[in-house]
Parts: sequence; C-alpha cells; structure tokens
Amino acid sequence: MEDIRINEELQRQKLFTADVAEIMKVRAINGTPKALVRTYGCQQNVADGEKIKGMLAEMGFDFTEEESEADFILFNTCAVREHAEDRVFGNVGALKNIKRKHPSVLIAVCGCMMEQEHVAERIKKSFPFVNIVFGTHVIHKLPEMMYTAIVDSKRVFVRGHETKEIVENLPIRRDGKSRAWVTVMYGCDNFCSYCIVPYVRGREKSRKSEDIIREVKGLVADGYKEITLLGQNVNSYGKGLEEDINFAELLRRLDAIEGDFRIRFMTSHPKDATHELFDVIANSRHIPHYIHLPCQCGNDRVLKEMNRHYDRAKYLSLIEYAKSIMPDLSLTSDIIVGFPGETYEEFKDTLTLIEEVKFTSLFTFIFSPRVGTKGAKMPDPIPAEEKSKWFQELLAVQERIAAERCASMVGSKERVLVEERNPKNGLLSSRTGSSIIIEFPGEDNLIGEFAEVEVTEARNWILRGQQVSR
Ligand code: SAH
Ligand code: SF4
Ligand code: F3S
Repeated sequence: MEDIRINEELQRQKLFTADVAEIMKVRAINGTPKALVRTYGCQQNVADGEKIKGMLAEMGFDFTEEESEADFILFNTCAVREHAEDRVFGNVGALKNIKRKHPSVLIAVCGCMMEQEHVAERIKKSFPFVNIVFGTHVIHKLPEMMYTAIVDSKRVFVRGHETKEIVENLPIRRDGKSRAWVTVMYGCDNFCSYCIVPYVRGREKSRKSEDIIREVKGLVADGYKEITLLGQNVNSYGKGLEEDINFAELLRRLDAIEGDFRIRFMTSHPKDATHELFDVIANSRHIPHYIHLPCQCGNDRVLKEMNRHYDRAKYLSLIEYAKSIMPDLSLTSDIIVGFPGETYEEFKDTLTLIEEVKFTSLFTFIFSPRVGTKGAKMPDPIPAEEKSKWFQELLAVQERIAAERCASMVGSKERVLVEERNPKNGLLSSRTGSSIIIEFPGEDNLIGEFAEVEVTEARNWILRGQQVSR
C-alpha cells in the first residue's frame, strides 16, 4: 500500500522533472544548465547528495564546482556541531554576490540543519535570496520544489513530513567509480544526550534486504570495489521490517555475492554490537577485519549521562571477544571531550581506554551544545580553554599509539585499494581494508584497483610502500 503511494508520488515528480528540464534549457546561463551541489557532514549526507545529483541529472543538469557558472546552487547541510553550522551560514551569506551578478540563479539549502526550526527560520529571514529550503525527509520532491520556485516565483519551505516508508528507486549519480555508499537504514532512535541526529533524521527505518542486495549486486557488476553500508546505528538494522533479519544476517547475505570487492559499514553502536556480528566478519570473504565502534569516552558516569547504554567493561569485553577471533582486528572510534560535567579525572579514563584498546585512528570532537538536546541544558562548568588542553592531550596520546601501530607494520604485505594520486608528493594513495593509508609509487591505471603492497616505511600514521603485484 505504502509502496504504491510512493510510486505514484515519484511518477508525479517525473512530470515536474520533464517540465523543469524544458524550462532550464531556456533559462541556463550558458546553454546547458549547470548545478553546484555542496555537501557537508557525514556519509549519510553524501549519499543524499548523490541522489539529489541523480535527480538534477534527470532534469538535464551538468555539474560544476564554480559558483559563477551555476544555474542552481544547493548546500546540503550538517547540524552535528556548531562549527559545521557556522560554516554553512558563512557560505550561504556569501552567495548574495552571486545572486546579484546572476539574478536567475536558483539557490537552495537542504539537509539536517533545515530540520531545526530555528535554523530554517534564520535562513528564511537573514537570506531572502535563498529560493528553496527543504529538510531530510522530502528530497524526492526536489523537481516539484524547483518547478514552484521557477514557475510560481515563490520561495519554497518544506520541513518535516517524515513518513514510515522509504523512498526507493531515486536515481543516484555517484561521485566515485570504485567506492560507493549504500544506505541500509535511515534515522536514529538512540537519543544520545549530546546528539541532534535523531531530531533531524527522524526514526529508524530499515530498507528491505532485497533492495539492498539488488543495489550491491549492481554496484559489483559495475566494477565498484568498495561498498560502504550506511546507517547511524547499523546494528539495529532489521527492526520494524516484516522479514526476520538482523545486521549480521544482512552482512552474511551480502558476503555471499561473488566478485572482487570489499564491504565496509558504519556506524556500529556498541550497545547493539553482538558476537554474531564479529563472527560474521571473521568468517567473511569480503569484509575486512575492521570496525568503527565509537566509544565516545571511557568513564562510566559520563557514558551514562551520554545515554549510551553500555559501560567501559561491556565495551572492552566486546573488543576482547572480537580480538580473540580476529587478532589482526583494526578499530577506530569517535571521542567527545568535555561533555557537560566531565571532570579531568573522568577524562583520564578516556586516555586509559585508548591506551588499552590501541585504536588505529580516532575522530575526536570537543562537546558542542545542540539546541533541543538534553546535553545542551546540562551545567557545563569547564571553560573552553581547559577542554582544549584535554583535547590536545588526547591527540598526543593517540598520535603516539597510531605511530607505534604503523611502525609495527613495516615489512608486512597489505592488500590495498588505490584511491587517488597525492598531488603533494606524486605518490598513489591507497587504503588497507582496516582504513590505514599507504602511499606508494605507481601508474595512474592502478587508481580504483586493488594492489598488493609491501610496507617499507612508517611516517606517523601514514605508511609508505612498494607494489608487490596486482
Ligand atoms: N551514529 C553515530 C555517530 C553520528 S555523529 C554513532 O552513534 O556513533 C558522529 C560523531 O559526532 C559522534 O559519534 C560523536 O562523537 C560526535 N558528536 C555528535 N554530537 C556531538 C556534539 N554535540 N558535540 C560534539 N561531538 C558530537
Ligand atoms: Fe547520535 Fe547516538 Fe544516534 Fe549516533 S547513536 S546518531 S551519536 S543519537
Ligand atoms: Fe551531520 Fe546530519 Fe550526518 S547532522 S553528521 S549530516 S546525519
């Protein structure tokens, strides 16, 4: 029933797509209409951006990075931290000059920031030259929103409208030829007390496994070498679906697909990580022995305040099990420093945790209050300069751990996926399945391919090597 409704809606959007394509032929500054799509934030947003580009391509758009030659400029925003928001406000403000030079340019702002009412209002009031503002649940209506903005010359504002169903079959214009993102679930139900994501992305919804498997098979057939499954908490995949399936089972089914490719996934919430998940990774053909398992901090009181639903002992016991079946397991994590009320003594528990686990790398953040979350209302007595010192201390410890780990890899042989040429030193830049960067000399035709590399040198957390064979 719901599928039928969505299909009807998509058919309606196709009519707007055709109309906008016709109009843009005449409106374009230089013959073919051009769009600039700039995405901020996490891979989920990147994946949405690729769908938006897919729809724009169907409306006849080419793509550009130059604001001055664009007929349509869209910023796909992130709300996770204050810094991310400030960048967007600055960059949207700067578009005023572009609009003055090219009054016909359409400007749109979408993404997570737009699901926060006070932010959408601010964009509406402060930037009257923005034509379209829309949230995370309605990207499939882009053709209609563009039609209304152009033909009715109206400003368009659409927030909310979260539906139970997932919109499948949107066109996707992927940025890469060897690495692809596949969303397996949308939204988040966890409400970690610092986090805005559940408010701007809505409730958890899993895609049907058949849709995911079909997409991954298609990507493998098209020659994609690395497929990253996306969700804010992939470990709760399957909840609410009619079929009886969990994330470990989904991985098992995807691993059964034939071909030369690897599967990665993010993000795994430790509260839902199971032994079954690690067993599947250990026994798989396509999944590297790597997991991004954000612990956020190492102190039990703070973890409880963060509403993370695990403690240090549970986290460490998960890792102990995982390492017992995969001694070469590589782990990465997100860490928040300076959660409201965290003391220096408590912060030191994070330092001892990272010493104990020896993460390959860390994504580290200073707590940033987000309007509407519980964390934003908690007393936060530690001054910013103090938190900044703790942060530097954390970085120094992690740098040493990463350097030691890298040094221990000299002499080993690694299978890597070559990503690009580093313009600074002319070397090919590649990644192991565990997300460690290895640079080595080689030809351009290796880009996007797997290669076998021997590690010859460790430079902090980047390795240098020589190709052994394909
Ligand atoms: N769903 C993922 C994380 C999504 S947000 C998970 O649960 O792991 C990515 C990271 O941003 C989080 O892991 C957290 O470390 C950080 N983060 C989120 N909200 C934040 C805030 N208000 N201040 C600082 N860091 C934050
Ligand atoms: Fe945010 Fe927590 Fe959900 Fe991750 S699991 S998106 S940190 S609320
Ligand atoms: Fe940012 Fe939204 Fe992702 S808030 S981190 S882009 S889900």
